[in-house]
Amino acid sequence: MKESGIPFRKMAFVCVHERAGEAACANADRGEDSGANLVELLREEIHKRGLKGKIRVVKSGCLDVCAAGPNVMIFDGEGKAVYFSRVTAGDLPAIIAALVSG
Ligand code: FES
Repeated sequence: MKESGIPFRKMAFVCVHERAGEAACANADRGEDSGANLVELLREEIHKRGLKGKIRVVKSGCLDVCAAGPNVMIFDGEGKAVYFSRVTAGDLPAIIAALVSG
């Protein structure tokens, strides 16, 4: 095994978990605010900005804060983390700003 820092400037974990009958970030009733849609929109914007390979947007399983979803957590290689809860598609500019800053 080899240990090293993360190979990206930042990583965003977007919960895409679905759960029948209970609140979950990617349940279909969330519509455009579903985690599954948010991850695609974030990836599209990262690609448009030429940041593929530098900033990674990852589909995450349940992050165990379901009642506050949709949830997005951003980590960088220096141990800093930011947590966005109750995310909507309208919040994506703020999340992109957090991803590209620093
Ligand atoms: S379903 Fe997203 S945090 Fe649990």
